[in-house]
Amino acid sequence: MNVSKDTIRRIQELKQEKKAIILAHNYQPPAIQDVADLTGDSLELSRHASATEAAVIVFCGVGFMAETAAILNPGKIVLLPNPRAGCPMADMITPGNVKDIRRQYPGVPIITYVNSTAAVKAESTVCCTSSNCIRVAQSFKDADTLYMAPDQNLAMYTARHTGKTIHYWEGYCPIHHKLTAEQVRKRKAEHPEALFIAHPECRPEVLELADLVHSTSGMLRFVSESSESSFIIGTETGILYPMQKRNPEKRLYPASNTMVCPDMKKTSLEDVLRSMETMEPRITVPEDIRLRALEAVERMLAIR
Ligand code: 13P
Ligand code: SF4
Repeated sequence: MNVSKDTIRRIQELKQEKKAIILAHNYQPPAIQDVADLTGDSLELSRHASATEAAVIVFCGVGFMAETAAILNPGKIVLLPNPRAGCPMADMITPGNVKDIRRQYPGVPIITYVNSTAAVKAESTVCCTSSNCIRVAQSFKDADTLYMAPDQNLAMYTARHTGKTIHYWEGYCPIHHKLTAEQVRKRKAEHPEALFIAHPECRPEVLELADLVHSTSGMLRFVSESSESSFIIGTETGILYPMQKRNPEKRLYPASNTMVCPDMKKTSLEDVLRSMETMEPRITVPEDIRLRALEAVERMLAIR
């Protein structure tokens, strides 16, 4: 029997045996998305992680996503099939940096992007994702000044759409930050009929060229619901797989073929199978950090 088919069959059996659920981010390799029970953006996966009755959560994404699942599910086993899958942006800020920010901006709410470590979340006022950053900032009705970390582009995007003064940490996603306005203009010239949709981790001058700015799942919904037929996609190229699958008749062009996140490609089906057989590697968060990070995550989840 084909090794891959055998692997998939065993994974399906283990899901039943171990009462496990497989969550996969929209950027994951096609074979992983196909075996998952749910695919989605960071917010959808966090919400699902908090609602699931499964005993085991197999998180196919990067470290901070599995950590968020562990923060929300202390009684469950959370597996990250390839523990080397990290997020360079999450590593651009430390809990000590956030403590310094608090001293530098006393009384200013600190909104931390979910792309951060549990220890950084624990020092923050509230979390946000790419799909709710504006709503989270607006929830501070009496605060004209906010601080956002670690993504400078998400912070500038949120400031533009809320009219608030937002100070920010100068972190960035290496994959989105390298997309230039010039590359986008060139793609637009090649496909003048196409709408350009972009992720808010892109630079401000790139977002200015966009017809829609949204999270990965927001982009998926937009393409499915739009009556237009061609789109230039300004995010990690992994999203083209679910987008094309749901919209076989539409023409999709990556804004740049080099927008590939190596960490999002580190997890293989063999890793998933091994982790479900061994129940390793587990992601755990020390209880004192978990409780403080949980406050920031729950505060975000309560904002609708
Ligand atoms: P989404 O929350 O939009 O899926 O983004 C996560 C991410 O890592 C983007 O680079
Ligand atoms: Fe992190 Fe960027 Fe990769 Fe998303 S695409 S996981 S933000 S490095």
